[in-house]
Amino acid sequence: MKKERFVDYFKENDEEKIVNLSLRPTNLSEFIGQKNVISSLKIAIEAAKKRKESLEHILLSGPPGLGKTSLAWCIAKEMGTKFVSTSGPAIERAGDLVGILTNLERGDILFIDEIHRLSRVIEEFLYPAMESFQIDFIIDKGPYAKTIKFNLKPFTLIGATTRKGLLSAPLRGRFGFFFDFDFYTPQELTLVVKRSAKLLGIKIDDESSFQIASRSRGSPRLANRLLRRVRDYAQVLGEGIITSQITKDACHKARIDEEGLDELDRKYLRAIIEIHGGGPVGIEAIAASLGEEKDTLEEVVEPYLLKKGFIRRTPRGREVTLATYKHLNIAFPRQAQEKLF
Ligand SMILES: Nc1ncnc2c1ncn2[C@@H]1O[C@H](COP(=O)(O)OP(=O)(O)O)[C@@H](O)[C@H]1O
Ligand SMILES: [Mg+2]
Repeated sequence: MKKERFVDYFKENDEEKIVNLSLRPTNLSEFIGQKNVISSLKIAIEAAKKRKESLEHILLSGPPGLGKTSLAWCIAKEMGTKFVSTSGPAIERAGDLVGILTNLERGDILFIDEIHRLSRVIEEFLYPAMESFQIDFIIDKGPYAKTIKFNLKPFTLIGATTRKGLLSAPLRGRFGFFFDFDFYTPQELTLVVKRSAKLLGIKIDDESSFQIASRSRGSPRLANRLLRRVRDYAQVLGEGIITSQITKDACHKARIDEEGLDELDRKYLRAIIEIHGGGPVGIEAIAASLGEEKDTLEEVVEPYLLKKGFIRRTPRGREVTLATYKHLNIAFPRQAQEKLF
């Protein structure tokens, strides 16, 4: 059985889903961070509104928990249209999409999460829907099969993906806007923590907010999760008051270090050093050493470690950096020194 991880971006339990809904920004002005994305979007939305047209299709990409779903939702709010949500793996047959597409009103948003996981058949079914707002639907089988053309109302497809590279070129080509999400800075996440604390009625000082922000791997989802963890801790051990000591203790208990790295991050780095001599080593070999899915490592673990400069990607694989040895408090081996200098 897999141990439950604190940093499990993909799974939100039911309680967390409800809390997160209440913490979601409700319009673009409330959306913290992602400044470049927001400013381009505002212009696109204003222009579309002026022309009384639907927005062009939008592809949102970036690591999990950075606000892609939230942003899609805000866009529908700003446009004043309906938000219909589904996901790549949920659409098994083209028929699943027909009902959804034919029910869309002019300007509605169709959100497809994990769009890189759409099957090829569904993708091809989507092309004419995206391009000319038409679908060809085949009814019956064999000699009685008939193709029926449906005209759709102009809608906006917003796709979200953690793996932009896995999208086929024709699908990518049908989007008008591409927005890449980047990790949030600790300063931005401090604002997220403070806002969430206010909404949840949690008292927290500036220093603790910043501490939580800095240990949340650049992700609002994790910042909200850690905030709730710290609150629980404060309630049980500190009479409900969040102090920086309580915050530190709670992080320690959740095994999150000062750089925001969690157990799996450190295990990943240690595996490269201890089993693979510091790298370069291929992702398959690291995944095998850890008994983890390669996808989890590529989508969740590596982007943040790359961003923080704890690993480098080379044509021959991943390798750790000097900062990694320092952070893990591992003596820098002579061979590694020779390799670097
Ligand atoms: N810019 C933001 N400002 C405030 N909270 C945010 C922001 N982006 C995301 N969140 C919070 O983080 C949670 C996870 O965001 P979500 O949109 O589900 O991420 P993604 O779809 O990229 O995995 C949301 O429920 C919301 O509470
Ligand atoms: Mg999402």
